[in-house]
Amino acid sequence: MIKHEQGGPAGLFLTLEGPDGAGKTTQARLLQERLQALGKEVLLVREPGGTAVGEIIRGLLLDPRYPEMTVACEVLLYSAARAQLVVEQIRPALARGAVVISDRYWDSTLVYQGLAGREDLAMIQSINFWATGGLAPHRTFLLDLEAEKGLLRVRGAKGDLRPAGGDRIEQRELDFHRRVRRGFLELASWEQKRICVIPADKAAPLVHDCIWEKVIPLLQ
Ligand code: TYD
Repeated sequence: MIKHEQGGPAGLFLTLEGPDGAGKTTQARLLQERLQALGKEVLLVREPGGTAVGEIIRGLLLDPRYPEMTVACEVLLYSAARAQLVVEQIRPALARGAVVISDRYWDSTLVYQGLAGREDLAMIQSINFWATGGLAPHRTFLLDLEAEKGLLRVRGAKGDLRPAGGDRIEQRELDFHRRVRRGFLELASWEQKRICVIPADKAAPLVHDCIWEKVIPLLQ
């Protein structure tokens, strides 16, 4: 693994990661509220996006008119949006001493495009190290959930209650989600100091308690 600069100056940089449907967004909000209740300045950002340039890139990545987009192209777009977010939002907030919570960061690219999408992992690491000036999170919380359960949660939110893995397309989708889950766990095993695995198959307040327990020592 490449050597990362740890977190940068003054503030605290936390990221939330995990497969789709693991509940990152809810946990990011709960963590933000808890920290604010202690009087901390908190910047919550969501990838890709969070800057004018990043929002345009987000639109491009989510646009169904470009199914021909290659995985390498995705790597570059996600990393480009991240480069902008680091300079415009994350570094200035850390310099002010704020807590920054990012809903996804470079681990998502390493897993979705690298380990699950089968693009060159070392290249993705180099690109991201360069794009962010080597800004690594102090701590990353990996919300871990079985692929089937994550997919069900995502579909449930859209009102679609079919079981996961029915037809061929769904099976492909499920296989990809399984690779994503495995990929995140693999990454966590390589970087045990930075990445905390949090079981996410329980009620949101209980998952939050597990995260909070690990945040407290970082605030001192
Ligand atoms: P996100 O907005 O976090 O969606 P959700 O809240 O539903 O999980 O992420 C959107 C999708 O983008 C998600 O499937 C993961 C994917 N993604 C990548 O493939 N690579 C990346 O680098 C990032 C940041 C996200």
